Amino acid sequence: MNNNIRPADMKRINTQELAEAFIAQQVSQVREQVGEKKVLLALSGGVDSSVVAALLIKAIGKQLVCVHVNHGLMRKGESEQVIEVFQNQMDANLIYVDATDRFLDLLAGVDEPERKRKIIGGEFIKVFDEEARKLEGISFLAQGTIYPDILESDGVKAHHNVGGLPEDMDFELVEPVKLLFKDEVRVVGRALGLPVSMVERQPFPGPGLGVRCLGAITRDRLAALREADAILREEFGKAGLAEKVWQFFTVVPDFRSTGVRDGKRAFDWPVIIRAVNTVDAMTATVPEIPWAVLQTITGRILAEVPGVCRVLYDLTPKPVGTIEWE
Ligand code: XMP
Repeated sequence: MNNNIRPADMKRINTQELAEAFIAQQVSQVREQVGEKKVLLALSGGVDSSVVAALLIKAIGKQLVCVHVNHGLMRKGESEQVIEVFQNQMDANLIYVDATDRFLDLLAGVDEPERKRKIIGGEFIKVFDEEARKLEGISFLAQGTIYPDILESDGVKAHHNVGGLPEDMDFELVEPVKLLFKDEVRVVGRALGLPVSMVERQPFPGPGLGVRCLGAITRDRLAALREADAILREEFGKAGLAEKVWQFFTVVPDFRSTGVRDGKRAFDWPVIIRAVNTVDAMTATVPEIPWAVLQTITGRILAEVPGVCRVLYDLTPKPVGTIEWE
């Protein structure tokens, strides 16, 4: 039987009880598959890899080796959260690689969006591969493949994500959530005790902030983007919008605009706020955000983020505009 096909009678995991039964079943299956051997996992901090990590920590503890590569294009606090949750709280075997300089040096001067994506994806694989080769005795590779990955591609996780792995890595795969839909992965994640902020995360592209810092990425614009994004997320959270809006983020273009600050002329960057609702990301609508919320966010970005003198809200539906700006 092809074990990549979800059995017709498999219950939708939508309660704590069903999630616990699923976890118990996977824990024993993984133990049986892996025995005493070691398993490697690229842990991005996204929903799928985080749930797989928590599940495998429960099943095999320190036999799991997690590698978290910070490509320097994460949102504010994301890598810190991965370390806090998995290393400090779950006592995982976690290797943290801060590869920020490597990525930003390679990306310097590159302004073509698809080339940026290729560089980020390619370098990610390289860094992960280098870390994997330093380790001894790894027999298995765990992946956060979920059912839509199997339905939409050839079962390859994250075909357009950064998380694709070296093709010559000759490990047996461990894919404990491969028959689950995204909402089920979230329920399992909650049952495993992962923080809500991690389990309910909105989609975040593999190339991360790299495709939101438009054109050739510079460190100063990237820093402004990260701060503005953190303010947006905080204020959407406070206003109860985080659960209602499918995806929201900021964008910093690669041109400046005039302003006045402290009586002097400024020539700084604009920040664009993008928020969309969608079912499948193929089409998207733009939600009406209360004016007061937009004003608070605008005020905070202008006051708190150096180098920014203008804030805009993008009203463009998809089509015609894509969700990301590049
Ligand atoms: P677009 O911009 O095509 O985005 O309307 C649709 C959805 O895909 C996400 N997206 C990406 N995700 N790698 C990813 O993993 C990428 O290169 C990428 N580009 C866009 C985008 O955030 C949205 O959810």
